[in-house]
Amino acid sequence: MNPKRIAIFASGNGSNAQRIAEYFTGFSSVEISAIYCNNKNAFVLERAKALNIPSMLFDKDTFYNSNSVLLDLKQKGIDWIVLAGFLWLIPADILKAFPQRIINIHPALLPAYGGKGMYGMKVHESVIASGETESGITIHFVNENYDEGDIVFQARCAINKGDTAEMLAAKIHGLEYEHFPLVLEKLFTEEVVGY
Ligand code: GAR
Repeated sequence: MNPKRIAIFASGNGSNAQRIAEYFTGFSSVEISAIYCNNKNAFVLERAKALNIPSMLFDKDTFYNSNSVLLDLKQKGIDWIVLAGFLWLIPADILKAFPQRIINIHPALLPAYGGKGMYGMKVHESVIASGETESGITIHFVNENYDEGDIVFQARCAINKGDTAEMLAAKIHGLEYEHFPLVLEKLFTEEVVGY
């Protein structure tokens, strides 16, 4: 059987992208086929090179006013899209071409601390400023709104008195590295079993 071909979209550091790529190395049923990036300075592009995964860089105009990214996804035979620290809304033509096949990870317990502009450290700073005693991660399907698609999985962590946004970010990254690849495997594999 052909492997499920996965595209990862990332805007910045890309530590989740790398974790996912390394996790699936050696799987015959899953291939991380490409990394798509909207920021020429993003470290994820270096990671893609080191991991030997083709990358595609695009700007806002290309993403929203042309079909180049969709055509590239189709040409590569992509089955699933994984957003791992990706900042922009997915355009309607890509959503339509990948119904319930686009997954995002958000570094808080949605529906709290989601929405436009809630990205990376901004999320953790808001959570700490609000005096929350716990936070966590949410893995969800992507729709036309920021952070609003069906939730697949959540995991929680405690926030201790005196924890800073940086300390919370480290805890959240730990949860992401632990759970994201496993949840993805389950999603990709359940689909394989259903064939
Ligand atoms: C991750 O914590 C991810 O949950 C978050 O960006 C970080 C990217 O880290 N995503 C969002 O905030 C989406 N709204 P990474 O580039 O090191 O994987």
